[in-house]
Amino acid sequence: MNRNDLDHIEMHLLLEGIYRVYGYDFRDYAEASLRRRLSHWLAEAGFSSFSEAQFRVLRDRNLLDYLIRGITVNVSEMFRDPLFFKSLREEVVPVLKTYPFVKIWHAGCATGEEAYSMAIMLNEEGMAGRYLIYATDINAATLCRAQTGIFPLAEMQRYTKNYLKSGGTSSFADYYTARYDGALLAPALRENIVFSTHNLATDADFSEMHLVLCRNVLIYFKLNLKDRALNLFNCCLIPGGFLCLGSKETLENREIAGHFTETIPQSRIYRKSVAMRR
Ligand SMILES: C[S@@+](CC[C@H](N)C(=O)[O-])C[C@H]1O[C@@H](n2cnc3c(N)ncnc32)[C@H](O)[C@@H]1O
Repeated sequence: MNRNDLDHIEMHLLLEGIYRVYGYDFRDYAEASLRRRLSHWLAEAGFSSFSEAQFRVLRDRNLLDYLIRGITVNVSEMFRDPLFFKSLREEVVPVLKTYPFVKIWHAGCATGEEAYSMAIMLNEEGMAGRYLIYATDINAATLCRAQTGIFPLAEMQRYTKNYLKSGGTSSFADYYTARYDGALLAPALRENIVFSTHNLATDADFSEMHLVLCRNVLIYFKLNLKDRALNLFNCCLIPGGFLCLGSKETLENREIAGHFTETIPQSRIYRKSVAMRR
């Protein structure tokens, strides 16, 4: 057996141990990227092998949190894929407006940029006070950052461009205050957002959602874990509710595909059939 084969076995033993001790299930993450990130974390944490890391991680919860930070990819941005947000504003928001109150779930929200973008858009569309956004992630550290509502000032120029391309109707500068090298988003934007931890691999679903966004998360999952997450979304969406995926993610060939129709081809905005029950 060569070194690679041994590494492979040890990595899987580490993931199995983490699942059994802590209930965090990374066993069905896409192999290549998980292995790359775990190997990088191993070197950064100063371990010489997965087995050595396993001994320590299974006995030290703080080390597990450090490992979760190492394996999850937390990049995000405000109004990411502006044309997606434009379609959301033009195709989905008019439907949301027909309800007295809507519930929205951002699954895998990272540092919260997507949820804040949603709040800005809904307020501009006259829905202030008529929505609740649940923004969840497996990584507690990113949620802490999300809750501060502070983002790098250097990013604001790019976010302003995204905002304008997405059909923003105001001045993006009105939504933040510059503080040294940070931009503090208007606290009112946070009023209708609940940030909380949620693990798509092991936790239960929410209920009666009108819109679920899970963008750039499923790409890190193997097919069976993708299906688990998608089944959660299908269960929690009301008939006629919307599901949004990232540009490289699709419902094609997935278990729940028959319950949904893509609103505009390639938009990755899917609408749940009205006739279909859960
Ligand atoms: C690339 S970010 C996507 C952020 C945002 N949705 C966007 O598109 O800009 C992927 C996020 O998925 C989260 N994630 C990974 N595995 C998860 C799981 N099992 N349950 C919930 N979130 C998870 C990561 O922590 C990370 O914050």
